[in-house]
Amino acid sequence: DELRELYQEVILDHGKNPRNFRHPDDANREAKGENPMCGDRFMVYLKLKDGIVEDVAFQGRGCAISTASASMMTEVIKGKTEAEAKALFETFHDLCTKDDHDHGHHGPVDEDAMERLMVLSGVRQFPVRVKCATLAWHAMNAAIEGEDKASSE
Ligand code: FES
Ligand code: FES
Repeated sequence: DELRELYQEVILDHGKNPRNFRHPDDANREAKGENPMCGDRFMVYLKLKDGIVEDVAFQGRGCAISTASASMMTEVIKGKTEAEAKALFETFHDLCTKDDHDHGHHGPVDEDAMERLMVLSGVRQFPVRVKCATLAWHAMNAAIEGEDKASSE
């Protein structure tokens, strides 16, 4: 249907012209995400300052779905607090591991908005490609939970 076509256009656009596809010099967190099914991998970079995600970017090699989902993830996460970014990941993860009729409670996260993002990110349209669509989200979460590069020196 029309909505589905629109979604596919958004995915194609982000897949071809990924936002924040770069390696920021001042990133202080990073994590690798790898899809064991295909060997594709991304590095996700964060600049966390005073509990805010001031910058988020990624680089690496992935298919159109994983690239598009990573690109959208950077747009959603940028400017959020660390706690908000984690809550968004947890919601994404929960919604991803359930089917779309089974809604739980996710505190402050707007679940309808998140459900739209699940669709846009490809999780809903391409269930067999869920590892692609969630690669960058897992890496982002790992980066947030990782050590601060500067403080670990
Ligand atoms: Fe974590 Fe799907 S398994 S986002
Ligand atoms: Fe490798 Fe999608 S096929 S990340």
